[in-house]
Amino acid sequence: MQSSAPKLSLAKQKTEEFNRIQKLVYKHTAIVIADDKQDFVRARISKRMRTLNIQTLGEYCDRVESGRESLTQFTNQVTTNHTHFFRENHHFDTLVKHLAEIGPENRTIWSSACSSGEEPYSIAISLAEYFEDIFSSDIRIIASDIDQTIIDKAAQAIYSEDKIESLDRTRKKFAFVKGKGELAGKVRVKKPLRDLIEYKRLNLVEPFDFNSRIDIIFCRNVVIYFDKSTKIDLFNRFSELQEPGDLLFVGHSESLNELCDSYTCLGGTTYQRK
Ligand SMILES: C[S@@+](CC[C@H](N)C(=O)[O-])C[C@H]1O[C@@H](n2cnc3c(N)ncnc32)[C@H](O)[C@@H]1O
Repeated sequence: MQSSAPKLSLAKQKTEEFNRIQKLVYKHTAIVIADDKQDFVRARISKRMRTLNIQTLGEYCDRVESGRESLTQFTNQVTTNHTHFFRENHHFDTLVKHLAEIGPENRTIWSSACSSGEEPYSIAISLAEYFEDIFSSDIRIIASDIDQTIIDKAAQAIYSEDKIESLDRTRKKFAFVKGKGELAGKVRVKKPLRDLIEYKRLNLVEPFDFNSRIDIIFCRNVVIYFDKSTKIDLFNRFSELQEPGDLLFVGHSESLNELCDSYTCLGGTTYQRK
């Protein structure tokens, strides 16, 4: 009996610390961390805590709240960056078909949660394969994410060979160079394709600073982490950036249903601005 009391209070303390992390993450990223993700979150943050020589999650929260831990560092610990090239491939086919119809000139495409770059490079590759003069065109591909570390990785455009294993040979040859020496076993996206992309850090829950229309938005596999009110706000702000006919792609398990009626669903998680 005696030994169970301290254990209980330790458990309570851990839950309280976790609740603080949940609130901080929500405040800064709008990501909702489920109650059963405590171990996952602790594992993610523990490396950073070791670097800072911090023992408890509570101390880590203190650092974040007092501004001694940069918000970039903090959000980098808790975001999930899983992605791959040509994920939900049909979106890239629809993208090319749509641009072929309306013309690629003076268009802006935004990969709004770009992670390590596979999504914006899939966009660039799809366009370059179809539109021969894309490199001299004025098309803009903007790629952004909340996580600066992952954006830096995206801009490097260096991937292990297995990341492109599933692509066909022609596409591999078209878009990637094989690494040598230090980069053996790796591939890099070719420079003209890299140069098509403008990277920036952007938090989707903060006001946008675009001063022109965004013809096509990719917002895939990120709103699953947001609550309903954040999704409603985000999709409505997207609709203000777009004009009738423009496209919005969301992730395979995401939907605008009951969230925003400014778009028509075209099927396949593709939406068109009304
Ligand atoms: C699972 S990845 C999705 C990558 C890519 N869009 C795809 O579908 O493969 C989710 C990305 O969303 C980013 N993210 C999370 N919260 C964000 C926010 N509030 N603003 C911008 N990006 C955010 C994460 O850093 C992460 O890179």
